[in-house]
Amino acid sequence: MNDAPGVEGFHPSVHIPVMLSEVLALLAPQPGEIVVDGTVGAGGHSREIIKKTGETGRLIAVDRDPMMLKIARSVLPQENCEFHQGSYANLPAYLAELEIQQVDGILLDLGFSSDQLEDQSRGFRFDSPGPLDLRFDTEFGEPAWQYLQHVSEEELADVLWKYGEERFSREIASCLIRLRKTQTVVTAKEVVEAILHGVPTKFQHEARRHSATRVFQALRIAVNRELEQLEKSLTESFPSVLKPGGRLVIISFHSLEDRMVKTAFRDREQWTCLTPKPLTATPAEIRMNPRSRSAKIRGAVKL
Ligand SMILES: C[S@@+](CC[C@H](N)C(=O)[O-])C[C@H]1O[C@@H](n2cnc3c(N)ncnc32)[C@H](O)[C@@H]1O
Repeated sequence: MNDAPGVEGFHPSVHIPVMLSEVLALLAPQPGEIVVDGTVGAGGHSREIIKKTGETGRLIAVDRDPMMLKIARSVLPQENCEFHQGSYANLPAYLAELEIQQVDGILLDLGFSSDQLEDQSRGFRFDSPGPLDLRFDTEFGEPAWQYLQHVSEEELADVLWKYGEERFSREIASCLIRLRKTQTVVTAKEVVEAILHGVPTKFQHEARRHSATRVFQALRIAVNRELEQLEKSLTESFPSVLKPGGRLVIISFHSLEDRMVKTAFRDREQWTCLTPKPLTATPAEIRMNPRSRSAKIRGAVKL
């Protein structure tokens, strides 16, 4: 269990950082280095990184979610950490503000944290009673319930197929469009019920994962524009701010992201790949932290 202290007005962090030793081995933070944690969350990885960069090192902690940044601020030493709320894709602008030209390492631990999952107001949990939001930054963009109000059935089916690889995308899209005819602000619970109407019972019972998992993933990717953020970072933002010899380490939790990272690291002009095959969690870690089951880590050195 993470021993992060609670933040006033927030529950204590319940997030356990995944594959910590593998991250540290690939990122190899050294004393005096500047390292960016682009998805700092509750600071689980960062706390170990700054032990390695030491008193002369600096950590730039970025997160889109003000709630997570508040938790990170409470667990990380203020002296050698800079905190920035926003997307990691805009890293060059944050570094320019700090008058930093280049950094030695960047870590991304994609997706959402267990703390966000537990926050009932966000809708990440299937049984959340509040409106289905699914945004990391609730001040930016539109919540999922609002998106579901105006998206066409065809576009929704495409989103579920493309971002969720959901085989019953058309059937589920039709059920979600029907739901909006009776309800304006939909909750996570109501969306789950509508999804189940679109999935044949036989498949609901056979599936290893809950039938709503892929749909929630797709809606989350859509409202946060997650793949655009990653693409921009891999091709523009990170190559421009990483020193030659600097390391980029990315933990992803689904095949769409992992495929993008794998493809980018194959580009010999910018990167030397450190992981011909992605690293995955050991059976012991999966037993201790089931969330690590789908984690894949890839690392590369900037040429
Ligand atoms: C899996 S958690 C990170 C957990 C962290 N490594 C730890 O050990 O506590 C992912 C975090 O990334 C943040 N996030 C997601 N997309 C982001 C983006 N484009 N830019 C910045 N932060 C983002 C989420 O708000 C969340 O806090």
